[in-house]
Amino acid sequence: MSTVSPGLLRAPRTVIFGPGQRQVLGRQVAGIGKTALVCTDRRLAGSPELAIMIEDLSDHGVSVAVWSETEAELPSENIATCHAAMADRGIDVVIGIGGGSCLDMAKAVALLLAHGGPLDRYYGEYAVPGPVLPIVAVPTTAGTGSEATPVCVLTDARRELKTGISSPELIPTIAICDPELTVSCPTALTASAGADALTHLVESFTAIRRPATVLSEQRVFIGKNAISDHYARWGLQLIATALPAAVEDPSDLAARADTMLAANAGGFALGVAGTAAAHALQYPIGAITHTPHGVGVGVLLPYVMRFNVPERVGEFAEIGRLLGQSADSERELALKGIEAVDAILTKIGIPKTLADIGLTEDRLEYVAEQGLVSKRLAENNPRPLDVDAMRQIVTAAYRGDLTLPF
Ligand SMILES: NC(=O)c1ccc[n+]([C@@H]2O[C@H](COP(=O)([O-])OP(=O)(O)OC[C@H]3O[C@@H](n4cnc5c(N)ncnc54)[C@H](O)[C@@H]3O)[C@@H](O)[C@H]2O)c1
Repeated sequence: MSTVSPGLLRAPRTVIFGPGQRQVLGRQVAGIGKTALVCTDRRLAGSPELAIMIEDLSDHGVSVAVWSETEAELPSENIATCHAAMADRGIDVVIGIGGGSCLDMAKAVALLLAHGGPLDRYYGEYAVPGPVLPIVAVPTTAGTGSEATPVCVLTDARRELKTGISSPELIPTIAICDPELTVSCPTALTASAGADALTHLVESFTAIRRPATVLSEQRVFIGKNAISDHYARWGLQLIATALPAAVEDPSDLAARADTMLAANAGGFALGVAGTAAAHALQYPIGAITHTPHGVGVGVLLPYVMRFNVPERVGEFAEIGRLLGQSADSERELALKGIEAVDAILTKIGIPKTLADIGLTEDRLEYVAEQGLVSKRLAENNPRPLDVDAMRQIVTAAYRGDLTLPF
C-alpha cells in the first residue's frame, strides 16, 4: 500500500474573509437567490449590524424573512418551529448570522425546506438525499468553523446526548467571515469558542489515519489527511498567539481576525478529518453540566492529548515546533507540544478539571460509557477507545492528573 497520505477537501464555493466584509452580503446573496431566510438570535436581532445587513439585502433586490428565535445549542423543536413558520414563504436561500447555533439552524432549515421532515431521518452520516437550499454563513463567534463544515449539531430532547447530521450537502455555499462581528463577544465566549477551535485543530491533526481506499464515499469524516493537516498547521500557528491576545484585549482587531481565520481553518480541517475523544466525551459531559461546548472540550483536551501521545509522537512534536518549542528528542518535544497547548487553555481561563465544571465523581462511569455512543467520534481517535480507556481519560481529567502513562 502507498505510504503517501490521501487528501480530501470539501469547502464552501466562496469564502470571504476580512474586517468589513459583511458589506458584500447583499451582492453575494443576490447572485444565488431572490427570497432569503435569515436565521439569527434575539441578541443580534436588536443590533444595528443586523439592520444594516438586512437593508443591504433589500437594496440588492432580495426579499428577507427573519427568524430571530434561534436558541443556543439548537434544540430540535426550535428547528421544527422555524421550519413550520417558513415553509410557505418561497424561501430560496438560507442565511445563518450568529454563533454556531445560528449557522447550524440555517443548515437544518435549508435541509428541511428542500426535503421535508422529520429531521431525525437525517441523523448520522450521508442520510441527506440530495442538495439542500443554498446556505450562506456569517459567523459572529470565532470557534465552531461551522461556516465551512458538513455537519449540523443539535439537541434532541428525546436523546440524552447532542446529535449530528453530517453530509457534504450541508456545507455552506458562501461563508462571509468578518472579524468585526466578533468584537462584541464577551471574554468568556471568546475563550470557549476559541477553545473549541483549538480542539478542532489538535484533534483533526492527530486523528486516526485511514488507508487511502477508505475515502470520501464511505465516510463524511475520513480521518487525518494531507489536506486537513495543512489547514490544522496553519490554524495552530495563528491561534497560539491570537487567541490569548483576543481574550486579553477584546478590542484587538488583529487578534480577533487571526482567531477567526484559525477557527475557519479548524472548520476546513475537521470538516474532512473529523474530531475525536475530546468531542466524544464532551457530549455526555455537556448534557450533565450544561457547560458551553468549547469549555467542555477545552477541559478534556490536555488529558486526551496525553492519552493519545503514544500513537502520535510525531504530530505532537510538530505541534511543539509550531508553537515555538524545541527539545533534544521527538518524545520530549511531543510533551512540550502538549504543555504548550495546555498553556494556551490556561491563559484563556479554561478550567483545569471536570470537577471544576461541576461533574461529580459518581458520573464518571456513565460519561466513560456514553462517550462511546458517538461512533463517528470515538472511531476517529488515533488510539483505540473502549470503556477502560475512556474511564482512564475522564478519571485523570476529573482529578487533574496529567501523568497518564506515556
Ligand atoms: N456545525 C459545526 O461544525 C459545529 C462545530 C462545533 C460546534 N458546533 C455547535 O455550535 C454551537 C456553539 O456555537 P458558538 O460557540 O458559536 O455559540 P452559540 O452560537 O451557541 O452562541 C452562544 C451565545 O453567544 C452569543 N453570541 C454569539 N455571537 C456573539 C457576539 N458576536 N457577541 C456577543 N454575543 C454573541 C449568542 O447570542 C448566544 O447567546 C453548539 O451547538 C455546538 O455544538 C457546531
